[in-house]
Amino acid sequence: MNNIIINGNKPLSGKVAVHGSKNAVLPILASTVLNGGENTVLNCPHLRDVDSSLEILKYLGCSVSYGKNMVKVNSKTITRDSIPENLMREMRSSIIFLGAVAARCKEVEISAPGGCELGPRPIDLHLKALRELGMEIEEHGGYIKCKAKDLHPANIHLSFPSVGATENIMLASCNIEGKTVITNAAKEPEIVDLANYLNKMGANIKGAGTERIEIIGTREFKDVEHEVMPDRIVAATYLCAAMATRSEIEVTNVITEHIRAVLSVLKDSGAKLKENETSIEISAPKVIKPIDYIRTQPYPGFPTDAQSLVMAYLTLADGTSVIVENIFANRYKNVEELLKMGADITIDGRVAVIKGVKKLNAAKVRATDLRGGASLVIAALAAEGSSEISGISHIERGYDGLCEALKGLGADIKIG
Ligand code: EPZ
Repeated sequence: MNNIIINGNKPLSGKVAVHGSKNAVLPILASTVLNGGENTVLNCPHLRDVDSSLEILKYLGCSVSYGKNMVKVNSKTITRDSIPENLMREMRSSIIFLGAVAARCKEVEISAPGGCELGPRPIDLHLKALRELGMEIEEHGGYIKCKAKDLHPANIHLSFPSVGATENIMLASCNIEGKTVITNAAKEPEIVDLANYLNKMGANIKGAGTERIEIIGTREFKDVEHEVMPDRIVAATYLCAAMATRSEIEVTNVITEHIRAVLSVLKDSGAKLKENETSIEISAPKVIKPIDYIRTQPYPGFPTDAQSLVMAYLTLADGTSVIVENIFANRYKNVEELLKMGADITIDGRVAVIKGVKKLNAAKVRATDLRGGASLVIAALAAEGSSEISGISHIERGYDGLCEALKGLGADIKIG
């Protein structure tokens, strides 16, 4: 089984480009079933989760072709309206196909998405919203069967600004005659990218990126060509790697507005940041300042996906930091592995107390989830000695060429 091997405690230098966003491209790929035509998705990262989505699209009858960082999906012919358990299980966010397939096929059966490393992954908000649009939904034996014959517009208030539920409502309602309104909608940049894609397709969506989104259903959809936004969490990953290794690097192909909350924490930790049009230059401090209190929140608050990345460099801060994880129930599984590297972290429910240590030591550690795995890479880049990280399939779900990118910055890293 392949591991990532890192000989750490070396500074990084140079430039690194950020690839297309996983969390934008996944709902965009689901939306390609809607137009019954050609979809050209540019800046598409090569990720395990993208491969899983493309397998689902092919299973449904779409034709799929690949290019360099580009995918073409033609959804003219849809031959199935169900997605089997083995394909649903591959990716937690496959629930996003529910709304799109229901809108296209009027019937859909999927297996309930499994939980994941972050704890239970309920879909109650998705199902409640889709029922408000008139979908008849039966859950039985781990399967979800939807009938979407008589859909109607609705005013849907989300009790929590769920990213996936917001996306599912947008996908399910963009061909429902009339106006559907989502209040307390998720405001993540990935929602805006999806709305941009759907509007290019002929949908009529206003307010994406705010807590109120209006979708006026249209019947005529057309072919789409769209360039996916850059991945804001991958950008945060490189910046946190620079912090942990006390390095100066430039991260290119970044939309700085998307990571304002992360940049604020980096500055509070002592980083010098230069924001250019589409890049950020970071100069990490020799002495990392601790952060009194980071709480993860929906956008534009501090992103839960960057929590473990910032934790990794805070293990080396000159003092104690506190993180509160408010979004997912179980997002500290990486801590056990960081402790093996000499970190001093105490977990109490949703609270992590990180006491800075002078140095980290190399160790054999295991990635248990995507961003937790990335935090182990960051810690290993700073640790003295040669670390081995197993479970790298988790990391490959969301990072396209992470090892090559870090090697390009001078890291002593390989897959072995
Ligand atoms: C999306 O997940 C992202 N995934 C996650 O990124 C990200 O962490 C999350 O949004 C928050 O920003 C994709 O976009 C593919 P939610 P999603 O619905 O849609 C609870 C990564 O590392 N909830 O906003 O699943 C849920 O359990 C991944 O790239 C319900 O209770 O997030 C969680 O506690 C990890 N019922 C919270 O809401 C529901 O019906 C946030 O979930 C839906 C969600």
